[in-house]
Amino acid sequence: MFEKNVYLERRKKLRDLVKNGVLIFVGNTELPMNYPQNIYHFRQDSSFLYFFGIDEPGLAAIIDLDTGKEIIFGNDVEIEDVIWTGPLPLLSDKAEKFGVSSTEVFANFETYVCNARKENKTIHFLPPYNPNTKIFLTDLLGIPVNKLKENASMELMLAVIQVRSIKSVAEVAEIENGIDTAYEMFTKGMQLVKPNRYEYEVSGAMEGIALAKNGALSFPTILSVRGEILHGHAHGNLMNDGDMLVMDAGFETPNRYATDHTRSVPVSGIFTQKQKEIYQIVLDSQMLAIEAIKPGVKYQDVHLLSCKVIAEGLKKLGLMKGDVDEAVKQGAHALFFPHGLGHMMGLDVHDMEDIGQIYVGYDDEVRPIDQFGTAYLRLGRRLQAGFVLTVEPGIYFIPELYNLWKTENKFTEFIDYGKVSEYLGFGGIRIEDDVLVTETGHQVLGKAIPKTIAEIEALMGGGR
Ligand code: GLY
Ligand code: MN
Repeated sequence: MFEKNVYLERRKKLRDLVKNGVLIFVGNTELPMNYPQNIYHFRQDSSFLYFFGIDEPGLAAIIDLDTGKEIIFGNDVEIEDVIWTGPLPLLSDKAEKFGVSSTEVFANFETYVCNARKENKTIHFLPPYNPNTKIFLTDLLGIPVNKLKENASMELMLAVIQVRSIKSVAEVAEIENGIDTAYEMFTKGMQLVKPNRYEYEVSGAMEGIALAKNGALSFPTILSVRGEILHGHAHGNLMNDGDMLVMDAGFETPNRYATDHTRSVPVSGIFTQKQKEIYQIVLDSQMLAIEAIKPGVKYQDVHLLSCKVIAEGLKKLGLMKGDVDEAVKQGAHALFFPHGLGHMMGLDVHDMEDIGQIYVGYDDEVRPIDQFGTAYLRLGRRLQAGFVLTVEPGIYFIPELYNLWKTENKFTEFIDYGKVSEYLGFGGIRIEDDVLVTETGHQVLGKAIPKTIAEIEALMGGGR
């Protein structure tokens, strides 16, 4: 948690951006796994956390723009709870730490909102994603569950995105501290990668490091020798000599900020020639993309630059052919790189994706490109100092996509399907770092996790 003033300042920015009405924020609740008392790991709603700080379930808050009131609603524990929970600080004491001087019991939240509605005040809420919050808002506002999203306040959504998009020095420091742990997760994880071990031996050890640092994972780890499966969350494969392993993981700091890195390593500890060649193309693409990052540049253009580096590299290897610019323009590279270059990162690993990716990543000037591959780019708009984003290009050999495109004779002027067939079974390679946009350019955040071929082979013991 930050100093009280940080939260006061954040709420002031919001008040300056939304004209009138009542802003409501519903915190997250505990969710049962298999019976009510046996719960999933609790994660507070990020916007609640950002503006009101308290990292506990069962809370809601309002900012009344017409009266200037800020209130956090929640219940203090009673004696029957105390025997299970131990004594807990009063809500009023907790709220005070975040600069909110007014607290009320939770039931009064409903009364407050109902009265405001009776007075025809606008109730501004963010689109809910948590099922409990959806049910709660439906009961409170009389809006059917499937209409909540379209009734969410665009004014509030855009204001929250504007405020949360620019990371403060303290937030960046928090992410960089988190990367110290990510460094440990990755370096220890890489050293555990060996033939005849299971993926879960590595992913489990990495998660253990996150937990042992009083944090959590910022998203379920993707760690697989089937790296061509972009978001495969199973870790049950035995790792074999000759496999490439994609390791995509993040630490969630004790203050709930995310880190997000990907490293791809040869299970044997030494890259084969083929693996080296593909790896180096992805690395070049990532480094050149990072170099291009500065305020005012469209991230969509940085994405397209990284696609070109990949297409050029694959052309040199004989997997692609023809005019590289035209191949990327038409989307032929997406056989190998079918996702976006990166996304905003902050309290959420895909920052504010709950509010709406289209508003986080795009604006009136920069619209999404509706083409397979680039359509998945989550951030396209012009970069501003203070954005924290990921840079994560990749090359994958996806047999199903290959078979489909080959059967359709798709882009035969740009793709040598015969040559590509020699790579089926290769898996995938992705390399990802977290980058701050600075006033003059960019800064790759945190301690550098080994990423060149030489660094990775040295860390992994070069196969010994
Ligand atoms: N690191 C997972 C993702 O960016 O989707
Ligand atoms: Mn990512």
